[in-house]
Amino acid sequence: MILVIGTAVAYPQSIDPHQLYEQNCGGCHAPHAGEFVPDNLVHSDGNTVGRKSGVELRAFLEAGHGRLTQDEIMAIVAHLNSILKSGQLFREKCLICHDRAVKFARLQLTLKDGELVGRYSQRNIGQFLTSHGRLESDQVPQMVDVLKRQLVPEQPE
Ligand code: HEC
Ligand code: HEC
Repeated sequence: MILVIGTAVAYPQSIDPHQLYEQNCGGCHAPHAGEFVPDNLVHSDGNTVGRKSGVELRAFLEAGHGRLTQDEIMAIVAHLNSILKSGQLFREKCLICHDRAVKFARLQLTLKDGELVGRYSQRNIGQFLTSHGRLESDQVPQMVDVLKRQLVPEQPE
């Protein structure tokens, strides 16, 4: 007999990639993915590869590094790629006028009811970025996300 269990099939969406990183990678690497990615990953010929080793990320994890399941690998590769992409976007479009994302965000920005706002200006940053920094409209939420991520407080060990 086959049991069809409604909506419970969408496993990858239920994986929290932040936690996955912190629990499965952060013990040996930087505690947060936001710090790990710029130091350890680069884009090369359309692939995400290790900065030092040149190993292709997905293949490296599929070969057993980090001991993740296939679903977890999909989730974490997507997560690390999105951090890498946003970091590049910040370097290309914002770094010329602003400090590094982590420093800029922690000095100038804060969270208010879950929304990213200017610490002193109190302006809603998601709105502000629709007309600042020359982002495409689909890059705005991505940038808000990357700036928010810099504010996540350090978790105690
Ligand atoms: C038990 C410790 C350990 C765990 C857990 C671990 N790693 Fe690693 N990882 C290493 C070591 C050691 C290296 C080689 C370090 C070096 O070259 O500096 C490495 C290298 C890498 C590299 C290549 C870096 C480069 O510059 O070429 C990547 C990518 C990577 N790890 C990703 C991950 C991810 C993602 C996870 C979690 C799923 C993870 N690792 C979990 C120890 C670990
Ligand atoms: C040409 C220089 C320049 C570029 C490029 C630029 N900014 Fe700005 N940005 C500024 C200046 C100057 C201010 C302060 C202006 C103000 O407060 O009205 C500012 C303000 C901000 C603020 C508001 C801070 C607050 O406290 O309200 C955010 C957020 C911001 N920039 C993000 C970005 C992002 C993200 C990018 C890249 C997509 C970017 N900026 C690109 C010059 C720049």
